[in-house]
Amino acid sequence: METEAPAALTEDMRKTNQNTRPVLVTGGTGKTGRRVAERLHDLGRPVRVGSRSGTPPFSWEDPATWEAALQGVGDLYLSYQPDLAVPGASETVGRFARTAADLGVRRIVLLSGRGEEGALAAERAVAEASAEWTVVRCSFFAQNFSESFLLPQVLAGELALPVGGVEEPFVDADDIADVAVAALTGEGHAGAIHEVTGPRALSFAEAAEEVSDATGRTVRYTELTHEAFAAALEGEGLPPEIGDLFAVVLDGRNARTADGVQEALGRTPKDFSVFARQAAATGVWNP
Ligand SMILES: NC(=O)c1ccc[n+]([C@@H]2O[C@H](COP(=O)([O-])OP(=O)(O)OC[C@H]3O[C@@H](n4cnc5c(N)ncnc54)[C@H](OP(=O)(O)O)[C@@H]3O)[C@@H](O)[C@H]2O)c1
Repeated sequence: METEAPAALTEDMRKTNQNTRPVLVTGGTGKTGRRVAERLHDLGRPVRVGSRSGTPPFSWEDPATWEAALQGVGDLYLSYQPDLAVPGASETVGRFARTAADLGVRRIVLLSGRGEEGALAAERAVAEASAEWTVVRCSFFAQNFSESFLLPQVLAGELALPVGGVEEPFVDADDIADVAVAALTGEGHAGAIHEVTGPRALSFAEAAEEVSDATGRTVRYTELTHEAFAAALEGEGLPPEIGDLFAVVLDGRNARTADGVQEALGRTPKDFSVFARQAAATGVWNP
């Protein structure tokens, strides 16, 4: 005769089963994904990197790669490429989230941006697809200066952007990853939008000064026209929408700080000056 397992035991068994299934980390070698993957690994959670160089390879442009990447996956960290602001991003993200949910993926944690229509549409698409979603809605990453498109400018000693004196509460990717991992592994984050920023807003000229202080090398801010910035992006092979995105999200609408790190983790976020000192200590700005 078959007997039913007690409810509490069934719940424990479900959780154990969930925790032995890998977390798919899309962009798992990128600025936030790499940090999410490292933290999950340290917690003993199996991780599968979702990227074109992953095993199996995963590409946002090739839906034929999606099912294999999602097979057997328990939870998902969803970081889209190249940016949620590009046309068609929310449709692609929605389609991927629905495929994930259909294949039994439970939690979906979406990396999103602030004050931008494409990001909001992607958030809605994930919320519609998944029963257990969390949004990590971020300000401008501090690591853009050390691991991304602003690094060559820092190395050249000139930060040339069309952003005037607008202030931005730069957020550290370590904080983003901590919040994402809390949402993937902890309780109480389902249906939450964690709006994460650094603890204070500063202008790009002030950020350049802080980088200068940390490195001992002068990095100056220079004002660029939007046209010259668009041409520079094109020269680096970046989509033109990134230039448009700058004009939208760096018009002052995102200058206020938000308390997502405190809300999700019960601690304050990392300050830009601490980021600058830590990045300088890695030698990335003095190769
Ligand atoms: N930067 C910001 O300030 C900011 C602020 C708010 C929100 N966001 C959002 O953050 C997201 C980017 O996150 P991130 O900065 O952590 O990523 P990232 O550093 O740009 O990530 C690069 C990763 O994506 C993979 N990748 C690149 N192209 C791919 C493709 N076509 N298909 C599949 N994988 C691909 C790369 O691996 P392979 O090369 O092996 O494929 C690598 O693992 C964007 O959606 C953006 O909207 C950014």
